[in-house]
Amino acid sequence: MRQKAVFKMTMLAIAVMMVLAGCGSNNGAGNGANSGGNGASNNQAGASNGTDVSGGEKEASKGEGVVNVFTARHYDIDFQLFDEFEKKTGIQVNEIKGTAEELVERMKREGESSEADLFITVDGGVLNYAKESGVLQPIESETVNDIVAPELRDADNHWVAMASRARIIAYAKDRVTPDQLSTYEDLADPKWKGKVLIRSSSNLYNQSLVASMIELNGEEAAAKWTEGIVANMARDPEGGDRDQAKAVVAGIGDVAVMNTYYVGQLLHSKDAEEVKVGESIGIFFPNQDTTGTHLNISGIGLAKHAKNKENAIRLIEYMVSKEAQEMLINGSFEFPVNKDAELPAIHKEWGEFKSQQIDYSVLGKNNKAATELMNKAGWK
Ligand SMILES: [Fe+2]
Repeated sequence: MRQKAVFKMTMLAIAVMMVLAGCGSNNGAGNGANSGGNGASNNQAGASNGTDVSGGEKEASKGEGVVNVFTARHYDIDFQLFDEFEKKTGIQVNEIKGTAEELVERMKREGESSEADLFITVDGGVLNYAKESGVLQPIESETVNDIVAPELRDADNHWVAMASRARIIAYAKDRVTPDQLSTYEDLADPKWKGKVLIRSSSNLYNQSLVASMIELNGEEAAAKWTEGIVANMARDPEGGDRDQAKAVVAGIGDVAVMNTYYVGQLLHSKDAEEVKVGESIGIFFPNQDTTGTHLNISGIGLAKHAKNKENAIRLIEYMVSKEAQEMLINGSFEFPVNKDAELPAIHKEWGEFKSQQIDYSVLGKNNKAATELMNKAGWK
């Protein structure tokens, strides 16, 4: 039993590490993004902010005018938003970076003396892991409840989504027509033999996709699907989501499974080749007539022992505000959680789509089973 528990923790550790492996390079995100485990508070404020109300307290993380954010999301746009918040409120945002696992472990270990006010990460399963680890508390905010739909919040409001992303099928426009595409399940059909591009089984995005399929179709069907996908792979998995799109355009395969925001990043890249890749792929939202397209979230949790609780809640309220959401989605190309946010052109082009309706905690709960199925199927 004990061995099993240890294994579970190890898998979870791997999973949360993979969040960063998958996301650390987005948007040219911060350097040394994975180096946050040394306990150093990364105080970046002050440079652009002359309105700090804690007067000379910048070194301290418990001053009145601060909020300490433990973040496993290292997107440049997040830090730009924190700067905006500082300018507006005078509340200094201290960023403490690390992997989700490191940060949750630190919050657990430091207990009541923890400096953490907020915890930010990608993946609903990981948010739920933080909740289950006992490091969060309910966010009491009518503003947040009014803006963010209940399905994008924890049942006890321990965390709230700040953005979402869909896992879609990108296809070679010159070789595939959308009417040939339908569902994730269909990609396991032998007609796609040698044509499917998808990254490795160690990637949390794929683990969460399989975890959702276990929930919706059952473990047996999900196992069959992983076997079919492995049989249809155009090559052994390599690279990130963007690399799958590039391989479609290079003719290595015809269809790729990838997250929507990477398409936005390709189209807005400074690299002309990447823009060309973005323009050469078609985007298909699968499972529109069945269970809906797989969606995952990034979110914010309120730390259980937050010393700056009011400031923390103000930052959450800011992050889901129309203004911040518009900045966020124009930087990360994720989907907003605030319905009033004006969508970037590319989102309008994609249009509305039906998304999976599952409890995000399921992604964490089924992670171990999903990983095991993928390994068993020989998904590298
Ligand atoms: Fe990512």
